[in-house]
Amino acid sequence: QSLLPDGYTFRTLRRSDYKLGHLDVLADLAHIGDISEEEWTERFDFLAKCEGTYFVLVIVEAGDDENREEKRIVGTGTLLVERKFLFKLGIQGHIEDIGIKADQQGKGLGLKMLKALDSIAKDVGCYKTILDCSAKNEGFYVKCGYEKAGTEMQHYF
Ligand code: ACO
Repeated sequence: QSLLPDGYTFRTLRRSDYKLGHLDVLADLAHIGDISEEEWTERFDFLAKCEGTYFVLVIVEAGDDENREEKRIVGTGTLLVERKFLFKLGIQGHIEDIGIKADQQGKGLGLKMLKALDSIAKDVGCYKTILDCSAKNEGFYVKCGYEKAGTEMQHYF
């Protein structure tokens, strides 16, 4: 938290965050489509019920007003915790949907998001975290302490 620049805070995603622009941040990452507030909230409630499995963090920018009220979400990232039978019931973390708003990139926010998610992963007992990314983002993840491993495969339905 203290590592973020002044005016930015880390917190977990809240049920009211549709209004603070959660989807606007993700729109810079990939196609989203039309999602109503009701649909967004239904998905939020589902994730919240999966206790200890989804950790969605956001970085929020404060407004210039006296109370420094939350103005908008400028970054997000998810840790999905997978509980395996392998590796003596090992717990593996999956890093997903890292997005920093285009006008906020290059300020170190993405790196801090990764560090925060990795820290949660460690705390909940993950032995490692893994992720898929495009070649253009490889350098970013190397800076975050990741190394290349394996080959990504996909199967669309
Ligand atoms: N390639 C190489 N190095 C990079 C890149 C890149 N694409 N992006 C950032 N870096 C470097 C920075 O120069 C910096 O290095 P430094 O410490 O030596 O100065 C370091 O990585 C940390 O950079 P940040 O400022 O923390 O990066 P930023 O906040 O801009 O976030 C991110 C990077 C998340 C990739 C951002 O550009 C973004 O949101 N892009 C669009 C969405 C996206 O592609 N998300 C990743 C999808 S993959 C997934 O979710 C698992």
